[in-house]
Amino acid sequence: MTTLQRIQPEKGCFFPPFKVDFTRSIPIHRQLYDWYQAAVADGRLRPGQRVPSTRSLAAELGVSRAPVLAAFEQLLAEGYFEAIIGAGTRISDTIPEMPAAPVADRSRSRPAKAGARSGSKFAAGLTAGNGPWWNNEGIFRANLPALDHFPARTWASLLSRHASRTTNSMMAYGDVMGHLPLREAIARYLGAARAVCCKASQIMIVSGSQHGLQITARALLDAGDQVWMEEPGYPGAHAAFAMAGARMAPVPVDQAGMKIEHGVAHFPEARLAYVTPSHHYPLGTGMSAARRMQLLSWAARRGAWIVEDDYDSEYRFGAHPMPALQGLDTDERVIYLGTFSKVMFPGIRLGYIIIPEDLIPSFRAVREATDIFAPPLAQAALADFIAEGHFSRHLRKMRTLYMRRRAALAEAMHRRVGDSFRIIGIDAGMHLTGFLPEQADDVHIANRAGAMGVSAIPLSTCYLAESSPGLILGYGNASETQIERGTALLAGVIEAAGGSR
Ligand SMILES: Cc1ncc(COP(=O)(O)O)c(C=O)c1O
Repeated sequence: MTTLQRIQPEKGCFFPPFKVDFTRSIPIHRQLYDWYQAAVADGRLRPGQRVPSTRSLAAELGVSRAPVLAAFEQLLAEGYFEAIIGAGTRISDTIPEMPAAPVADRSRSRPAKAGARSGSKFAAGLTAGNGPWWNNEGIFRANLPALDHFPARTWASLLSRHASRTTNSMMAYGDVMGHLPLREAIARYLGAARAVCCKASQIMIVSGSQHGLQITARALLDAGDQVWMEEPGYPGAHAAFAMAGARMAPVPVDQAGMKIEHGVAHFPEARLAYVTPSHHYPLGTGMSAARRMQLLSWAARRGAWIVEDDYDSEYRFGAHPMPALQGLDTDERVIYLGTFSKVMFPGIRLGYIIIPEDLIPSFRAVREATDIFAPPLAQAALADFIAEGHFSRHLRKMRTLYMRRRAALAEAMHRRVGDSFRIIGIDAGMHLTGFLPEQADDVHIANRAGAMGVSAIPLSTCYLAESSPGLILGYGNASETQIERGTALLAGVIEAAGGSR
């Protein structure tokens, strides 16, 4: 098969950003030829890409067809274009006298551009997305649910139900707070399953909880405001609060959750506390009732806000349900964040913020200044997915599956690595975290494991101050066979790095 046959002609074609210069002595056909020749040579136009018909291009340029025909004939004769019967004219894949490298590669050989070209120091300090542990294909990639167990056909039929009845309200600007039927479905679900107390009017639909964190930080904080962060804690939250210019105050976490007394003693000026009380990220513990009451009463006394990130607590395996902190809050100090990344799939990019009523105007103002509102199609399909019972059925099935995977992972790590992987919380969620011996270098171990197709997040990347080594292993998307293979590889890496007994 020739390359020519392999390249599929693209269906769409675009008019070039080219304007005939009638003041120049260069003939029109030559100007057009030069433009296309340069665009093909520097990679702006790619092999297989269609070009407009001579008739439509002539009309667009406001010239007669003759010069366009002349330019095209020359480009065809020299092999820049090729004519495909029944499919118009397209850029040839056998381009004469041009380097074969794509644009990005060739830009390296261009002369250096004058002047400073660096991004902000702030952006350089953001490390999210670095490291082999973000490889979606790696075993134990954290934050991924069991993708192949998702009822994809049901979801596709709900999407197509709404896509095929696209109305003006689906296509025009939507409600800043989100699609009302979805907000109503979420309010009903959270009241029943998470003891959250809210009205649909308090719910803002966002693009996942990372977006919710951004909006919350902007709506509540001014640059320089101090924020209590769990230590260790969620790097996504570190980044979101840093984007708002907050001063991060690391408050240690133990088996009972954030040590409120430490926060009060060391960081008394804080305006906000970020917590994951139902399933601490990354350690996996739950916040005790006593700490919850301490936190709520601190916030009420101080006039501070609490951001509760309830990212995966639908999956609890222990005997004790862990209701949301928001439901205990009588002073409306808690801003509750939820996401569909774990209970559906991350690509859906839908989450929500539950906002105390008097703060809604601030949140709306920030939202209007960012992305205005979330795309309605997936929201409408999700509202039906919840209302028609698919969501609760999926949750029940996944709870059983994750319980099995969790037990398999804990057992395999214990068998292969022993006490050198000391697991803390075990009752909930889709990831499992264990401490490594003090001398272990978890970043080195995670890098080595990454090279073998195992995505283990180094625990030390979750600390703002002094860190302890460990690994965060996601089991949501890991089959039991993968768990066996992944733990065998990981045990070898840990041992080789001197991190096991
Ligand atoms: C603590 C925590 N919050 C939130 C999220 C979810 O983020 P998103 O909804 O942006 O996908 C995660 C994902 O792993 C998380 O670990």
